[in-house]
Amino acid sequence: MDGQKPAMVAETPPPIAMLRLISGFWISRCIYVAAKLGIADLLKDEPKTADELAAATDTDAPSLFRLMRALASVGVFSHDADNRFAITPVSETLRTDIRGSLRAFAMTELGEEHYPAWGELLHSVRTGEIAFDRAFGVDIWGFFAKNPNNAKIFNDAMSGVTAQANEAILSKYEFAGISTLLDVGGGHGGLITSILQRHPGMRGILFDAPPVIEGAKAPVEASGVGDRCQLEAGNFFESVPSGADAIILKWIIHDWNDECVTILKNCHRALPENGKLILVEAVVPAGNEPHFSKFIDLNMLVMTGGRERTEEEFRSLYEASGFRLTRVVATESPFSVIEGVRV
Ligand SMILES: C[S@@+](CC[C@H](N)C(=O)[O-])C[C@H]1O[C@@H](n2cnc3c(N)ncnc32)[C@H](O)[C@@H]1O
Repeated sequence: MDGQKPAMVAETPPPIAMLRLISGFWISRCIYVAAKLGIADLLKDEPKTADELAAATDTDAPSLFRLMRALASVGVFSHDADNRFAITPVSETLRTDIRGSLRAFAMTELGEEHYPAWGELLHSVRTGEIAFDRAFGVDIWGFFAKNPNNAKIFNDAMSGVTAQANEAILSKYEFAGISTLLDVGGGHGGLITSILQRHPGMRGILFDAPPVIEGAKAPVEASGVGDRCQLEAGNFFESVPSGADAIILKWIIHDWNDECVTILKNCHRALPENGKLILVEAVVPAGNEPHFSKFIDLNMLVMTGGRERTEEEFRSLYEASGFRLTRVVATESPFSVIEGVRV
């Protein structure tokens, strides 16, 4: 590409840079254990020793000490001279009780389903096949249907990341002018309810698979906009509800390869002429810069067979489904808003 070294390795001697990169997953797995044990919640009011944390989490104190010392060395916690560990701004994000918590995201991405699938990355690279399916003998959506606890953590993870991104999306993209907005694959409704809260005249439809919609009832009601947000369950490969003048899909299209054209054509069928199609996705930049999209792209390769796309790839996708891409709005999160119109 442009020949510049990415910042991660620019100023570091090559063997040290490589050792850091190789050991990256050690840090990830330590974060998983801290998230699973709820360490950030235990430290939210005051620092604690490893013995106190071990008593509260039913773990081995010397081993937990080593985990905490390692995490403190990279800034996830802090470690004082009296051997007490404290929360830091980075580990605040792992608290359960904050808006936009990343605890469930750490648990789902680094725990029981994504992590074993990443163990089969070589299989995906060799064959183009989905590593998750090889590791588990079922696809991810079938796995979640059979494992409601894992599905709940995944849905909570999506809500947490969505809450993180909502502000960035809402501050850069103007939703005013839409009468009824349909959120296809909207999970537990974090995005559509935030948009409805900002736009009191707007109505919303939240659409997802039946068990997810069941789980969305309480959070949508609690958001205070339940009277303007209709809940609909179904399969977006068959159809999506009609009656909206704009459709939003956040983090849906990246789950799928070329078959996503079927989802977009179903959106086309449900929209009036000039209806808006709004995708929220991480757009892969053309150059060699570090970007969240480049590794989440591999997450899609191993988990669902999906992919992240460049602006040009989105443009082709829109054309193949009967839309014209009108603009791409970058936000301060890794997500961009990709707007199109039904032709
Ligand atoms: C990556 S999550 C994104 C959730 C949400 N839009 C967000 O960004 O937080 C993908 C969503 O697609 C839903 N989904 C997957 N297959 C579906 C199908 N065939 N019909 C309807 N929804 C589906 C999942 O249940 C899940 O909520």
